[in-house]
Amino acid sequence: MSDHAPQPPQKPGEDPIRPHVFDGIQEYDKRLPNWWLFTLYGTIAFAIVYWMMTQHFHRPDDGKQVARAVQELRAAKLAAAGAYDDAALWTMSRTDSIVASGQATYQTTCVSCHGDKLQGGIGVNLADSTWIHGGKPTEIMKTVTEGVLVKGMPAWGPVLGPKKTAEVVAFILSKHAAP
Ligand code: HEC
Repeated sequence: MSDHAPQPPQKPGEDPIRPHVFDGIQEYDKRLPNWWLFTLYGTIAFAIVYWMMTQHFHRPDDGKQVARAVQELRAAKLAAAGAYDDAALWTMSRTDSIVASGQATYQTTCVSCHGDKLQGGIGVNLADSTWIHGGKPTEIMKTVTEGVLVKGMPAWGPVLGPKKTAEVVAFILSKHAAP
């Protein structure tokens, strides 16, 4: 049938007409527009990059980020309540931001006597499992707060206040296995 046959371009440079006719309608055989192709290839490229970033480069996944945020909030709440019992201090010792603050205090205040690896020197080793004054978090907190004046360990409670004291205790505990 003559109207099903491909039509030659009308004018030079015009797109060819596709061979079918539906309800008397014919189509040009047009190249897809650049913006459309750009969007298609763009989404494919984005998908590949996104997949690599999430699956291959060990970006912490959402679940871990949420767990960490919850941990931070829990520790901040405990710290704000000023209730430094054993459980609270252990929780703080597993919370990155608190341990980092405690480490900063340790570097300025404790490192001269207890050493950069908590190995001791003028003061005693704080990384081993031998404790003169008790190794429970609350006992360490008490020792740091009140000091052991006769042995040359200053009382840090009045100097640092409870929050910073608890943070530095959390830093020491971060070097120990939780019960
Ligand atoms: C001027 C030196 C000096 C500084 C500074 C110092 N300490 Fe000490 N610390 C000591 C000495 C000495 C002892 C040992 C006390 C004893 O023999 O009873 C000690 C003991 C301790 C203990 C008890 C260890 C145990 O076995 O029971 C803890 C905990 C402690 N220090 C934490 C800290 C923290 C935290 C800081 C910083 C905020 C700090 N110390 C700063 C000298 C120091």
